[in-house]
Amino acid sequence: MAALPLDGVRVLLGVTGGIAAYKAADLVRRLRDAGAEVRVVMTEGATQFVTPLTFQALSGNPVRTTLWDSSAEAAMGHIELARWADEVLVAPASADALARFAVGRADDLLATLVLATAAPVTVVPAMNRQMWAHAATQANVALLRQRGVRVLGPASGGQACGEVGDGRMLEPADIIAAVAVGRGPKTLEGLRILVSAGPTFEDIDPVRYIGNRSSGRMGFAIAEAAAAHGADTSLVAGPVALPTPPGVSRRNVRSAREMHDAVLAAAPVHDIYIAAAAVGDFRPEVVSASKLKKSGEPIRLDLVQNPDILADVASLDAPPFLVGFAAETDELERYARGKLERKKLDMIAANQVGNDLGFECAENALLLIWADGSEQLERADKRVIAAALLDRVAARYRASSKARRA
Ligand code: C5P
Repeated sequence: MAALPLDGVRVLLGVTGGIAAYKAADLVRRLRDAGAEVRVVMTEGATQFVTPLTFQALSGNPVRTTLWDSSAEAAMGHIELARWADEVLVAPASADALARFAVGRADDLLATLVLATAAPVTVVPAMNRQMWAHAATQANVALLRQRGVRVLGPASGGQACGEVGDGRMLEPADIIAAVAVGRGPKTLEGLRILVSAGPTFEDIDPVRYIGNRSSGRMGFAIAEAAAAHGADTSLVAGPVALPTPPGVSRRNVRSAREMHDAVLAAAPVHDIYIAAAAVGDFRPEVVSASKLKKSGEPIRLDLVQNPDILADVASLDAPPFLVGFAAETDELERYARGKLERKKLDMIAANQVGNDLGFECAENALLLIWADGSEQLERADKRVIAAALLDRVAARYRASSKARRA
């Protein structure tokens, strides 16, 4: 039986004033289900949305709302509370809270704790999309990031104010998976892992391209988990707007040929290459220098095949341990096993596309296949799947003839 992802981790949850505060109640419950011990601190604004009693009942601990509470200060003062925490998590983090943390205010309990703690601080912004996009908020977030604060989200979608855009709080399951990734044991210390992620874009003319529906999230989650577990991690990323995971060195590319060159240059100095990118198989033979015009006539695009990055890495003199991906709509195992052999891979991670899995979504399920075995990783958040995948990859790598001798 695997240990719970946050077994014994002491989480200080800061809840600030915003409509997403109601989701923090579910977050407390799930944090405890994941094995965490939770204490909640609410700002005055947060108490306008949810009562402290709700959080007290769910966390099983008294809730603090003010710096000036003499009985609470006698029981567990704010400095003890700051020292108690293994992890400070602020969800939802309002625009005001981010501004106050960025300036280093200490005139309420939560801001004081954020200053006084030596534990990692994670903020989960939630606000109206205009407030999120405002230069002031963006500057505050950039400053917090620069100081080592982890920023999760926000997600995009419908908002309580009726608008649609960036600013929704991440779902509790995603928050927990991300927090758990940073807390795991450093099982990949000493390994150099190269990950490719995202789609590739093949230009047709200066404004059009052929792309695909890969969001890059699976590959980014793998790179994030690799770095969090101690691996020296490089990421070659196709065109996606995802933030670089902490501790990962990133190189951006656009086309399959650019990805090919970046990966082949990096591969010889890595122990493991995980090819999670959805590389475009074809590109237009000619890229038009000017925008193609409508003429009423059909137009013809001649497509030529792109190089196969994995196959070229496999034919290096001393290739790294190779993990490929196979997205299939049917006969998953048969096609994936064929690819494993044809591409000379050490392992393949096969996923069924469709049914809200695989592309453009937060969850995935993978069938891992190697020469003499296989294992199913059941449907879960991509960050959780990434951690499980790396665990299996590291074990197979260490058992393989490609493992460096100590
Ligand atoms: O053959 P197929 O494209 O399904 O293989 C998928 C695997 O091969 C993925 O790991 C993908 O990153 C990799 N690939 C590649 N270069 C290509 C096409 C796919 O490295 N041109």
